[in-house]
Amino acid sequence: MLDSNYFHYTGTDLSCDDVRLEELAGIYGTPLFVTSARSLIESYQTFEDAFKALSHFTCYSVKANYNLSVIRTLAELGCGCDVNSGGELYRALQAGVSPEKIIFAGVGKNAEEISYALESGVLMLKAESLSELRAIDRIAGELGKTASVAIRINPNVTAETHPYITTGDSKEKFGIDEAELPVVFSLLSRLPNIRLVGLDMHIGSQIFDPEYFVAATVKLLALFEASKELGFSIEFLDIGGGFPVTYDPLKPATPIEHFAEKLIPMLQPFGVKVIFEPGRYLVANASILLTRILYKKSNHTGKQFFVVDAGMTELIRPALYQSHHEIQAVTFHDETVMADVVGPVCESSDFFARQREISAAEEGELLAVMSAGAYAAVMGSNYNGRLRPAEVLVNGSQVKLVRKRETLEQLIQNELSC
Ligand code: LLP
Repeated sequence: MLDSNYFHYTGTDLSCDDVRLEELAGIYGTPLFVTSARSLIESYQTFEDAFKALSHFTCYSVKANYNLSVIRTLAELGCGCDVNSGGELYRALQAGVSPEKIIFAGVGKNAEEISYALESGVLMLKAESLSELRAIDRIAGELGKTASVAIRINPNVTAETHPYITTGDSKEKFGIDEAELPVVFSLLSRLPNIRLVGLDMHIGSQIFDPEYFVAATVKLLALFEASKELGFSIEFLDIGGGFPVTYDPLKPATPIEHFAEKLIPMLQPFGVKVIFEPGRYLVANASILLTRILYKKSNHTGKQFFVVDAGMTELIRPALYQSHHEIQAVTFHDETVMADVVGPVCESSDFFARQREISAAEEGELLAVMSAGAYAAVMGSNYNGRLRPAEVLVNGSQVKLVRKRETLEQLIQNELSC
């Protein structure tokens, strides 16, 4: 069982803070994302405490969970935002984040997005290619603005994680190759509408070993020194996100303090402001996906299936990355059974667990798919004509509906009859 102060049994009932999940399902239906505001706050404070000795600025990577209320909860604590598209920038601004606390990333920003970011007055755009630098310079010139830019480098450090979420390797599309940096510096001195304010990296996600951060930071610092010699005065070093969380109690995440112990002494002497972009760390364990068991069935091999009303359309991580999510019965049962927990979507990859020892819950009962705060709702889809679920935010005994369940009408609202 995943230990959490925020999702816990009160007697035999699983609750979020002071609210029973059964009650929430009764009011809002299922599938339902339930987020604990207190968990968000605690994760942010733990992160900030770990790095308090370092002059830094934390920008929540909103791609992990861009619900406005999640962004707002973190922003109210002083957190900035890392956005990856015009859509995410719009969300961050709508959530009330001030533009000078927003940094804009993305390997393929289009002209519209670059203009939007410049006109909004974001703290910086992170450029990932020579061509993009030229585009930013041109657009800034047209708008009569000077663009504050950070260069994202590809440090060629292959962090051990799922291959789909490693980004700091030369095989991948991200960042500018180290070898190209001299050309970048020389180009920058000829681009009148760009001011170089930072160097940036992001080596991947769910990285357990701090040594990968250390290896990449060594490279970032060497480039920082090189840039100083060339006369650039860089204000920010952006270390990216990628800090791990526990999905499986048998594989506990490295505590954030271990990353801080390694990184603070390396970065502090340089007297530059450090930016962190945690996504998953702040939100993954703040939410669960509440789902109801529709049917139970077994086959001639003795295999059992729990067919639930949520699926890969709400949480695609098991299908895409074979990732583990704990599953807890909302009403506690002593007995367990070995079963697959599967969704209603027409894909064999539509499962939450395979051959897992699951609480012996009955048809009609509720299950909680744990750690569903990061890369869950945001990666959702309407595949199979499914409606995006409702989302609620719990704080103590208070419950707020923060996203309404989609309707059938909304499914077709943008289509035109011809
Ligand atoms: N900064 C940049 C530039 C990123 O690309 C990402 C994540 C982050 C920060 C935040 O990384 P985090 O702290 O959350 O690890 N869908 C995958 C994860 C994809 C991560 C993409 N980039 C998953 O479900 O595991």
